[in-house]
Amino acid sequence: MKFNIAVIPGDGIGPEVIEQAKKALNAVADVYDHTFLYKEALMGACAIDKTGNPLPDKTLTLCKQSDAILFGAIGDPKYDNDPTAKVRPEQGLLRLRKELGLFSNLRPVKAYDKLIKNSPLKEEVIKGTDIAIYRELTGGVYFGIKELSDDGKIAFDGCSYSEEEIERVAHLAFKASQTRRKKLTLVDKANVLETSRLWRKTVTNLATQYPDVKLEFLFVDNAAMQLILNPKQFDVILTENLFGDIISDEASVIGGSIGLLASASIGKENALFEPIHGSFPQAKGKDIANPLASILSAAMLLEHLGLHEEAQTIEKAVEKSLELGITTEDINSEKAFSTSKVGDFIADYIQHQEDSNLN
Ligand code: IPM
Ligand code: MN
Repeated sequence: MKFNIAVIPGDGIGPEVIEQAKKALNAVADVYDHTFLYKEALMGACAIDKTGNPLPDKTLTLCKQSDAILFGAIGDPKYDNDPTAKVRPEQGLLRLRKELGLFSNLRPVKAYDKLIKNSPLKEEVIKGTDIAIYRELTGGVYFGIKELSDDGKIAFDGCSYSEEEIERVAHLAFKASQTRRKKLTLVDKANVLETSRLWRKTVTNLATQYPDVKLEFLFVDNAAMQLILNPKQFDVILTENLFGDIISDEASVIGGSIGLLASASIGKENALFEPIHGSFPQAKGKDIANPLASILSAAMLLEHLGLHEEAQTIEKAVEKSLELGITTEDINSEKAFSTSKVGDFIADYIQHQEDSNLN
């Protein structure tokens, strides 16, 4: 089959890790006889440098027309350290999410057996952890009214949610729990926030449509603690935009490296796949960044296109690289492979699975 894939390498290590994801996709195309037509576009700091706009119109149009979007990373320290900057790389990604209506962000968190010792958490605490975090992605404080007083001394960020915004992502989270261990935990701050109380009410009402799913509630401060104390208690976590951003980075510690966490951002018409790590500017161009999150994002992209076996083939190749220790320095600093070597291994393994199995 033929698919149009919009590719946005972005900033920092984005282009390097995206290149490895494309190697994996090309290997899949070869083995399963698909055609992936890639079209590259600018977004983020690189887009500001070239066009003055973090999300050029051309990029937005290309993304709208694509079957799926593969995205690297965004951000540059020259903007992080300048609080007065009016145009920022992150605005590109946030606007893209909003314009495409990518309201549901799935971030799977798994403790790979081979990497258990990489986590600072105890083996008995994390072994067997398998969590799907559903983060609402186009609402909340990220997209609320923002104000700064004329004297620059008072700042305001508004947070709002509508029932409809909550329902559409909650449906996806409920459906996901039905195919998993049938437990859904809503993470909120309903003891303080009005928006959180609406989340509880709305999700409680929806639960009647999913009687086989056990619904639980946790305040976000407690959830942050429980994630480290006893992560195995979680199956699917559903939460709003800002809480999801924070707890998914926290949860990445369970997997041993943030360089492993992939994500899928899904809307009605479009879908975008990206690693959850940032642009890691210190590593840019050094060929040391972990490409596995980006490669696993490509697997999620295939899954979204209905190519299940193809997606599993990539996942298997990633597991093999972990098993054989063909990994970057964040995973094993004593015996580190380069970004491109890891990408080559994955692509090669996909192409010659049987031979590789003999190794
Ligand atoms: C993420 C990132 C983004 C977010 C930034 C880059 C705007 O941290 O995807 O988690 O906060 O959503
Ligand atoms: Mn984040």
